[in-house]
Amino acid sequence: MDEFAALTERNRQLSKAMMQSVFELACDLSGLGPFPEQAAKARGTAPVNARLMQIQQLIEQLRADLQGLRGPYLMQQLQGLGVDQHSRALQLHIGSGPYVLDGWINLDVFPAQLSTNVLWGLPFVDGQCRYVFLSHLLEHLFYPTDAMALLQDIHRILEPGGVVRIVVPDIAQCIAAYQDGDTGFFRDRVEHWGAGDGQATRLEHFLAYAGAGPDPAWLFEAHKFGYDQETLIRALQRAGFKTILPSTYMASTHSALRVDEHSQIASAKHGDRHYSLFIEAIKE
Ligand SMILES: C[S@@+](CC[C@H](N)C(=O)[O-])C[C@H]1O[C@@H](n2cnc3c(N)ncnc32)[C@H](O)[C@@H]1O
Repeated sequence: MDEFAALTERNRQLSKAMMQSVFELACDLSGLGPFPEQAAKARGTAPVNARLMQIQQLIEQLRADLQGLRGPYLMQQLQGLGVDQHSRALQLHIGSGPYVLDGWINLDVFPAQLSTNVLWGLPFVDGQCRYVFLSHLLEHLFYPTDAMALLQDIHRILEPGGVVRIVVPDIAQCIAAYQDGDTGFFRDRVEHWGAGDGQATRLEHFLAYAGAGPDPAWLFEAHKFGYDQETLIRALQRAGFKTILPSTYMASTHSALRVDEHSQIASAKHGDRHYSLFIEAIKE
């Protein structure tokens, strides 16, 4: 591992440790109420409030420095991909993970063909994309805040007639499996996802699937929401889409969007049914 790879991994571990620390700090403060400030005054030490503000300022300064790097970092990558503001009819694969689609811009957090974070906004001008594909990405964003911001951004970068294909875990199937006591559904899920220790109850499975209570240190990786068809359609409508078409595995009417098979989890099935929900929306 070279020097920068080692530092990058260390930074990742440190940010995880800090997320855990901040959560525990908030727990301490909520439990102790006014006592820490009273104790600080009695001891003649700095108020907790001032110490917290110092920490907050340090974090915000570092964030401001990092924000200043986004532009040049993205510009350099887009130049390497031969994309500029005049490019049109792009095909954008968001949250590509290990699956690189030929002829697509495959976007994910580092490392990726286009390394970025979708929460920064998509680095394209209005109407630059013909197709957008995302498989098992949306449930990793907070809903409605971050998920709606991404859907609106996708609507913005699509050309008129452009299509987004979205694949997410189908939470309605998970609820039905819980209600029906379908242990096979959850057993097969462990096989596909390797979730938990294999001993989890149906409820533990469901809550992890639906994004309830992720561990602070794993907040980035964990599910934060679960979608059924009704909720995903409504979210797309709120993002500005008027034509929304439920789909099924590999059944897009647009040949360019018949790409589900490249994702192992989009392809995963319980019996003869896919775990995922498939939806397309067209920009007017
Ligand atoms: C469950 S994986 C799905 C990968 C692949 N699309 C598939 O179908 O197997 C979720 C992917 O979304 C990416 N992701 C999650 N949050 C993201 C964000 N805010 N910005 C960019 N990528 C993100 C993760 O890094 C990961 O590669």
